[in-house]
Order: sequence, then C-alpha cells, then structure tokens
Amino acid sequence: MKAPRTSAAVAALLLSSTASAHDNVLTPEKLEADITTRELQNVLWNLNHIANTHGGNRAFGEPGYKASLDFVLERAKTRFGDYYDTFVQPFNHTYDKTLAIKVTGPDGKNVEVVSPQYNPATPLPGGVTAELIDVPVDDERGSGCYADQWEGIDATGKLALVKRGACAVADKLRLAKEHGALGVILWNQEPGPIVVPTLGADSIGQTVPVGIIPYEVGAEWQAKLDECEDVTVTLLVDSIAETRETWNIISETKQGDPNKVIMIGAHLDSVQAGPGINDDGSGTAAVLEIMTALRMYDGYPHKIRFAWWGAEESGLVGSLHYTSQLSEEEINKIKFYFNYDMIGSPFPEFSIGQDELSGTGAKVLQEYLESQGKKVKLGAFGGGSDHVGFVELGIPTATLFTGAGAPWDPCYHQACDTLDNIDWDALTVNAKAAARALATLANSLEGVGERRKISFNPRSRRGALRAFQHWKAVAEEAEHGHKCSHSRQKVVV
Ligand SMILES: *[C@@H]1O[C@H](CO)[C@@H](O)[C@H](O)[C@H]1NC(C)=O
Repeated sequence: MKAPRTSAAVAALLLSSTASAHDNVLTPEKLEADITTRELQNVLWNLNHIANTHGGNRAFGEPGYKASLDFVLERAKTRFGDYYDTFVQPFNHTYDKTLAIKVTGPDGKNVEVVSPQYNPATPLPGGVTAELIDVPVDDERGSGCYADQWEGIDATGKLALVKRGACAVADKLRLAKEHGALGVILWNQEPGPIVVPTLGADSIGQTVPVGIIPYEVGAEWQAKLDECEDVTVTLLVDSIAETRETWNIISETKQGDPNKVIMIGAHLDSVQAGPGINDDGSGTAAVLEIMTALRMYDGYPHKIRFAWWGAEESGLVGSLHYTSQLSEEEINKIKFYFNYDMIGSPFPEFSIGQDELSGTGAKVLQEYLESQGKKVKLGAFGGGSDHVGFVELGIPTATLFTGAGAPWDPCYHQACDTLDNIDWDALTVNAKAAARALATLANSLEGVGERRKISFNPRSRRGALRAFQHWKAVAEEAEHGHKCSHSRQKVVV
C-alpha cells in the first residue's frame, strides 16, 4: 500500500507559505525521514548504560529513574530550550521493595521463594518460625479466598499454607490476617517459574507477610499436613514501603495554537527487575527522537506536547495524576493523544489500539506500517498503559504496541530487557509511523473525532467529588488490572 498523501490543509499551508520560501515546513514525509535506527540506538544505549550504572534498573523511586529524567531533560530543556517549554510535574506514590526473603523448610534447608510487591516485613532479624496450618485446597474458587473456606480454622500464631490460583493473592492474605496467622506460605498453582504478583498499595496494613514457593515444595508440605504430620517452617521478609516523590516530564512546542494540542507520550520508568529497554525505553526513544527532529520545522498550526510518564509500572500513576489534574478547559484543548509503550519487541506483533474517535490518528499509523510490509492487528484499547487516563476523558487516542511476554517479548519485566531485547527494524518502522502520524495531526485534525464528553463536571462540587471517586476507581483498576489487559500479559493471580 502507498503511503498517505499530505492532507488538503497541509497542501493549502504549503501553498500559502511558498511566498516566504520556507523549506522547513513540517510534513509527515520529512519528519519520518529524520528518524534513524542509529539515533534510536543511541538513546537506548544511554538508557541501558543508566540502568547498568544505577543498580540495574530505572524504576520509580530508584536512582536510575532520576538519571533517566535528567537524560531526557538534557535534551528537552537544556539543548532544545529555544523550541520547547518544559516542565517537570512532581507527584508522590508508595515506593516498595523487598530487601530480603527466606523460607526455611522442616529439614532446615532454604527453599526457592518469591516476594510479591507490597509484601510487609516479618519481625527481624529472625523472621517467624511456626507450625503450618492447612487451608483446604479449592482449585475451582481459589484456596483461602472466601470466609467460608476459613471456617473453623484458628491460625493464631501459625503460618498458613495456602495454594495459589483462581483468586487474588491479596484476598488470601487479608483473610489469613483476620484469622490470626503470622504469615502465609503460598504455593504456586503450577510447576515451573513463579510469576510475581502485586498486592496493590491499598493492601498495605491489611495483609500478613508471604513467601511464594514452588508448586513441588508446597505439594510436598501439603501431603505431610494431609497425613497429620507437624510441619514447622521459617518465613523471613525484610521490606520497606514509604512515600517517595517522582516526576512526569511535560514539554511542548513554543509554536502552534495552544487551544489545539496534539500529545504524544511514553513511560520513562522501568520495573525494578531490569533496565526496561523495550519496556519502555523503546517508546521513550521514539518520542525523544521525534522531539529532536521536530525542532527543525516550522509552519504547523497545532501545538505539540510531549510526555514522559513516571511510575507507569506501579499502576499508570504518573499519567493518571496528569489527566486527573487537568481542568475541563485544559482537557478540551487536547485534541489527540498518542501512546507508545513497548514498540520494539524482539518478536513483534504490530498492534494498534483505537476506537471510533481515533480516525486519521490510527489510520496514518496503520497505512504506514502496511506500506512497510507489516501485518497490522487493529484492536480496542487495553488497560495496560498510559492512554487509559486520556481515553477516560474522552480524548481521541491511538496506541502502538508490539507485545509483552512470550512469544513477543520473553524478557518482559526481567533483567534481560536489554539492548539485545529489541527488534531494530520494528522499532524504527514504528517510530517513523509515529513521526508521520504526529506531523499529520500537527497540520490538520481532518478525520479525527471530537472529544466524547464525560458524565461528570469536575467544576461543580458534586462533580468534583464524583471526579475524585472516578479517578480513584480508575487508579485501582490500573494497579490491579494492570497485567490483566488483553494487550498485556496473562492475569496474575
Ligand atoms: C510528597 O510528600 C512529601 C512528604 O509528605 C511532601 O513534602 C511533598 O510536598 C510531596 N510532594 C508532592 C508533589 O505532593
């Protein structure tokens, strides 16, 4: 398929500006041509280097995030200050880290153990040594998730042995606490690697410490309890949970109509487990390279606003903070939002998220990818990234995503999400598509939907309360449903 032509509006603009002989008028073709694999590689080399020299990650609350922020600011603010107005938006969130975890079996040997996010600490330095108490296995409803499953169980002073699966880990831990347990030994529901769950920041204070052990070990201990044997084990968790400040970067062109803003964003944080080069160094690099190229151009009628979001991996925290703080007036000025998260997966599937408002924004992405021989999968928006707040506000949106987890990105959320975890052709083609789509909308909103009005008016007192409750619900959904979206990995229960 042929790449799209410039719109009528651009053509008119080109004509009107020939008088002043501009050769730096923005066109989709020019901005696309400016994006090179080599420069995208340069950005990702820098982000990888930042992780390597800051404890292996670029996560919220960690030094690698601050260094990533400074890296973007060095361009957006310091070098390109003549073209862009940049502001750093601070916000707070609960930082959490398990510093140490240990489970010692009845034979005195330590077993393999995994800690979820927001795991509270046991008494230290010794941890808890106690008998296991049997919580009946219920693979259908999930074990230990409902009050009736705990009937007659007095877990006071004991560690509860609970099988994982079918229902939320946090619910199991809440009930264990209510029934007096000192902690939970959670055995994985299937053999093989243990996927790390998050309990959610709102579980703080409501749960007991937990160690997640392999299926085989749990099944063995369960069999002993079935034989009425006493099984005494030790659980040790050393963790911290505290408020930390973090930041979004918002940067916009000096030129363009402030009442017609096109936004483009990616998240700047990684998970604690690794450097986050595909997730989301890839989107960060695309947005930064588009910014780098755009400063050379002129003559586009709309304002372009770039965003690098903080604490996405903790539940879309930065982008939801931004969208929930906008006034109705500011919301109406944002005519489109593009989100780029994981656009260089090593075994890419080219997924465009869109709805009936996306129009030209999604169409330009699709047509360009198809013109480059890529098979495009069109779908609805998932819940897994920073577009959620914009979609909630009814703002026309489009997203690109090349897949998380096997088979698309086997290093998803792991230490191996490095420079080796990128398909450079996919990243380059996607970044070029993003450049084209942005330049198209910078020049014309033709074929883009109007904002869908939301049901509450944040200006009125009652509306403000409803808005507050609304954003609270969205944030909770983002935190718990984060990996459950069809566009992300499988449900983590
Ligand atoms: C974050 O919390 C700290 C400590 O409570 C406070 O001093 C700071 O102003 C907060 N920052 C923001 C952006 O709310």
